[in-house]
Amino acid sequence: MGLFLFSTMFNLTVIGFLLFMFLRVLFSCWILPVLVYQKIKRSGFRGPTPIFPLGNISEMKNKKKNRSNSSVGCSRISHDIHSTVFPYFARWQQSYGKVFIYWLGAEPFLYIADPEFLKKLSAGVTGKSWGKPTVFKKDRKPMFGDGLVMVEGEEWVRLRHVITPAFSWANLKPMISLMVESASKMLDRWISLINSGNQEIDVEREIITTAGEIIVKTSFGISYEDGSEVLKKLSDMQVALFKYNRYVGVPFSNFMNPKRNLEAIKLGKEIDSLLLLIIAARKNSCNQHPSKDLLGLLLEANNVDDPRGKTLNSRELIDQCKTFFFGGQETTALALSWSLLLLAMNPDWQNQLREEIREVIGDKEVHFDLLAGLKKMGWVMNEVLRLYSPAPNAQRQTRQDIRVDDQIVRKGTNLWIDVVAMHHDPALWGDDVNEFKPERFRDDQLYGGCKNKMGFLPFGFGGRMCVARHLAMTEYKVVLTLILSRFSVHLSPTYCHSPTVLLSLRPTYGLPLRVQPL
Ligand code: HEM
Repeated sequence: MGLFLFSTMFNLTVIGFLLFMFLRVLFSCWILPVLVYQKIKRSGFRGPTPIFPLGNISEMKNKKKNRSNSSVGCSRISHDIHSTVFPYFARWQQSYGKVFIYWLGAEPFLYIADPEFLKKLSAGVTGKSWGKPTVFKKDRKPMFGDGLVMVEGEEWVRLRHVITPAFSWANLKPMISLMVESASKMLDRWISLINSGNQEIDVEREIITTAGEIIVKTSFGISYEDGSEVLKKLSDMQVALFKYNRYVGVPFSNFMNPKRNLEAIKLGKEIDSLLLLIIAARKNSCNQHPSKDLLGLLLEANNVDDPRGKTLNSRELIDQCKTFFFGGQETTALALSWSLLLLAMNPDWQNQLREEIREVIGDKEVHFDLLAGLKKMGWVMNEVLRLYSPAPNAQRQTRQDIRVDDQIVRKGTNLWIDVVAMHHDPALWGDDVNEFKPERFRDDQLYGGCKNKMGFLPFGFGGRMCVARHLAMTEYKVVLTLILSRFSVHLSPTYCHSPTVLLSLRPTYGLPLRVQPL
């Protein structure tokens, strides 16, 4: 009798538990998203109809619909890349305009490619009042953890305050010689490659290595050899997280691709251990005058006896290091790589820059104070960042209800800002939007004549604009000056134009170019 009662109770408990789980799944995968969907529609936003629990992901992954030949090809290079890198957004724009709602699984995103809407939405929102989409914070945790790029509110204010001085002009000056050293090493290697019969060089791979070397030396004070394993593992993690079937926002999606998740977690732990060693080595170096580079400033903030009470625990310290190892290498390297492609396609601009370098730098060593004189190079950089923005989108989450004209963007709404779309919008730039024309920036150095100031966002916007943009611009000018002073670059028949988004905007098949010593 007792056994029977126990077995009945047990069965009822299991059934109750299963029913509870079923209702929970039903609620989070279907009922809640449908309720939110209806509320959003009432707020005045339209968009493609989601089918839960995938939302609009199936359509985004539909290869047939997404096939576009506009800018992809081995024989033809077009800069009209929006419909190639974001085919689904280009398609939805035609039906729903430049602001609409789409769904990643059960997560609604407000898509924005209208700078005027963005301007109204962000007016009065400070850096600390923006959030980051929760779903991305979870998805990208192994990569950035609570790094500056992901944190919010007071936490962000505190970190940004600690980190900003690492990229001040005063701190950048002494970095130039390290940049010159690393770039010269790369160029010597190019000479050896050419002398040993290589007709072409994958400049993307080369520059990524050099940018990695520059960031580890300038911001962490270590040699490339000591930092290279972290950089390699971060790059593997990028592939594990962003390359294969992604179901971000779909409830329980972690279980859909357990191998990928476990690999990312394992790599994350390995990177943490390597960074701990780097941090410990710096702590033990007993330097009387602690360095003011990024790691030095982070360690100062990590000091629990800091009278200002701004402490940074070890976990936070590691997450910042990870963020800067990654951010410091990838973005600037891509800006330089895309520039070489565009200069190879436009030999006239290549010559103009070489002429400017001769006038401004001449036989002198590359020096910080001279870089400001490289005006045309600044236009070229901006034009490249416009056409091939390494950061192809920006994301935010609202932390309060915001009214934009007659629509209300509710607190907690995820925003997905399509930078590529705005940078390629003829309504903002004119009919020559997809042409490489650095002279756009001659009379309007900041916005290139864009009809709306929020339409050109290579480094983001507002208080959360890229904290290291001055470092990026300095490194860009130093490395490009050295390359163009020693080499000319030309298109290679093996280059296949296929820009793709793997967190950043990169060439799918690398960037082989014919490189000739001058
Ligand atoms: C050409 C090179 C670069 C480009 C195009 C670029 C672009 C961007 C963009 C678009 C954002 C987002 C801003 C926003 O959400 O409004 C950002 C933020 C950030 N970038 Fe960069 N970046 C570059 C170089 C770098 C470098 C070299 C580093 C590190 C050494 C770096 C570290 C960061 C960090 C930590 C943030 C987060 C800032 C915050 O949220 O407060 N970036 N960057």
